[in-house]
Amino acid sequence: MAQLFTRDTQAIFWNNNISAIQRMLDYDYTIKREKPSIAAIVAPTAESKFQKFFWGGDEIMINLYKTTSEAKKAHPNADVLLNFGSFRTAYDVTMEALDMGGFTTIMITAEGIPERLARKMNAVAREKNVTVIGPATVGAISPGAFKIANIGGTIENIINSKLHRAGSCGLVTRSGGLFNELSNIIAINADGIAEGVAIGGDRFVGSVFIDNLLRMQDNPEVKYMLLLGEVGGTEEYKVIDAVKSGKITKPIIAWCIGTIAKHYSSGVQFGHAGASANADRETAEAKNKAMSEAGIYVPSSFNDLPTKISEVYNKLKADGIISEIPEPAMNTVPKTRRSKQFICTISDDRGDEATYAGFPISSVATPDTGKGIGDVISLLWFKKQYPKWATQFIETVIKTVADHGPAVSGAHNAKVTARAGKSVVESLVTGLLTIGPRFGGAIDGAAEHFKYADDNKLTPVEFLNHMKKLGIPIPGIGHRIKSLRNPDLRVVGLKKFAAEHFPSTPLLDYALSVEQLTTSKKDNLILNVDGTIGILMVDMWRALGYSEIEIDEFISSGTLNAFFIAGRTIGFIGHVLDEKRLAMPMYRHPMDDILYQVDMAEEI
Ligand code: ACO
Ligand code: LMR
Repeated sequence: MAQLFTRDTQAIFWNNNISAIQRMLDYDYTIKREKPSIAAIVAPTAESKFQKFFWGGDEIMINLYKTTSEAKKAHPNADVLLNFGSFRTAYDVTMEALDMGGFTTIMITAEGIPERLARKMNAVAREKNVTVIGPATVGAISPGAFKIANIGGTIENIINSKLHRAGSCGLVTRSGGLFNELSNIIAINADGIAEGVAIGGDRFVGSVFIDNLLRMQDNPEVKYMLLLGEVGGTEEYKVIDAVKSGKITKPIIAWCIGTIAKHYSSGVQFGHAGASANADRETAEAKNKAMSEAGIYVPSSFNDLPTKISEVYNKLKADGIISEIPEPAMNTVPKTRRSKQFICTISDDRGDEATYAGFPISSVATPDTGKGIGDVISLLWFKKQYPKWATQFIETVIKTVADHGPAVSGAHNAKVTARAGKSVVESLVTGLLTIGPRFGGAIDGAAEHFKYADDNKLTPVEFLNHMKKLGIPIPGIGHRIKSLRNPDLRVVGLKKFAAEHFPSTPLLDYALSVEQLTTSKKDNLILNVDGTIGILMVDMWRALGYSEIEIDEFISSGTLNAFFIAGRTIGFIGHVLDEKRLAMPMYRHPMDDILYQVDMAEEI
């Protein structure tokens, strides 16, 4: 790959480092990137599922994941990993990502990863052809395309240093601070940089000078290169060899810092772990001399570097190799911005016509659209377009649970309330409030417990014992009036639908084997309508390709009971309207139907 990053590059950011990510997004917005450069964030301990960030004056949500593999699975195109883990976790995070594959570049910011581990990590990355930037670095930038975290500093500094669009220089340094300094010098004395990498200050870094310069040699945007080496190590000699052997033909300007070391009698350790000369060849002086002899442009001192840059740049310009770079249009990040209080991810009423998960209402509402209530539910509850068999199953459930006569808990409550003179909505909610673990609301519980048993490969006997230990009746089993002798025909209908339309029904098959056992004890301990719905919904979601985590989240958030709530609302409203039509008087329960056993209260 000739270019490290493009305008389409997206990264997974390991650690929810809000200010660094916001800087990246402000940069993206400024350079008018279409997609944010961060696709996902890995935040192992985060409770929430997303983090809000500003996008210009607006806001966007970036998903949070607990693990790199979850993030990568959800965002397979994100091929850069920005590893902002501490020195304690950075190694493991990198090794896991290398093992997982799918990353072309991994940047590691942590300083202080044990050298033995750093060497191993770098060797594995090299074997897998992954570019590692760092450890101990601020990163890299492809101006006008992609910028890692804090490199380049503030937006003002970025624009002053012409880092908002590609220039002609390929810049490689060890230090991040000097990287920013040099970008500014290059902006003043030339036309900015096409690509820049701060390789990091540790003794053992992933990609070294030569790796980056060879890539820049192949990158047509880079017309010349600037290498800022430093005292210590011999990496600069690899560059000299590449120049001598003709592997690098583009002009290189280079300087090794640390020439002051010669004024000290003993070896000097500079700020970076790698910045100390262990032999004469490793001194800045020796390296500068050797580079100059190889035909690399080496100034006489660091102070002369700007003049050298301007010389090389002007020559390339005069030779027609570099042409004038037009300034691109940019966005301006507003100075003040306000965070939004509410988020909506299901529907949007801002256009001419409101939409359900992107679909205008008119595209699903009328019969000619071929869409039914199952499609509307799949859009508004799940933000997905379910296949016909699944939307028809949802509709079958809604129709099946719409009512079960006036005697059941909820209908009874709604009727009593209506007769007390309350409105439709007031009467309706009293009915809805009865839906719970015993009545109509055992669907979530049935899905949860049967799925647990199936996931853990419990035999039906083991499952029954497990539930006995928990001390709760098995949700989805048992009915007041339905039994083996008086089967619930709703259950028969749902099972028939599943047999005809579902790709497979493994959880239902398991639940039926449990039912055999419970009905052998008592014949009303059947798999009831709640149980059948809960279990078949799990089978449906599995067949639709949802992950187990997603299904568990549906269950724990109460999604399954919502099908009963939506369906039974139809029936409750019917009962309330029935009461109103009949103009029924207030209800008083007959006293002879109540067992009164009221003792005189004792004095205490
Ligand atoms: N799991 C295990 N044992 C049960 C279950 C169950 N789900 N339900 C009843 N039993 C046992 C009782 O503990 C009792 O045992 P015992 O005779 O040794 O004391 C025996 O079966 C008989 O219980 P009953 O009290 O006669 O059952 P009842 O008819 O009162 O209960 C009910 C019906 C409330 C539905 C009950 O079966 C239950 O709680 N089921 C789980 C909740 C559920 O699925 N509700 C949804 C029903 S469908 C709907 O509302 C749309
Ligand atoms: C229902 O759907 O309301 C019933 O299964 C409950 C009942 O007791 O009939």
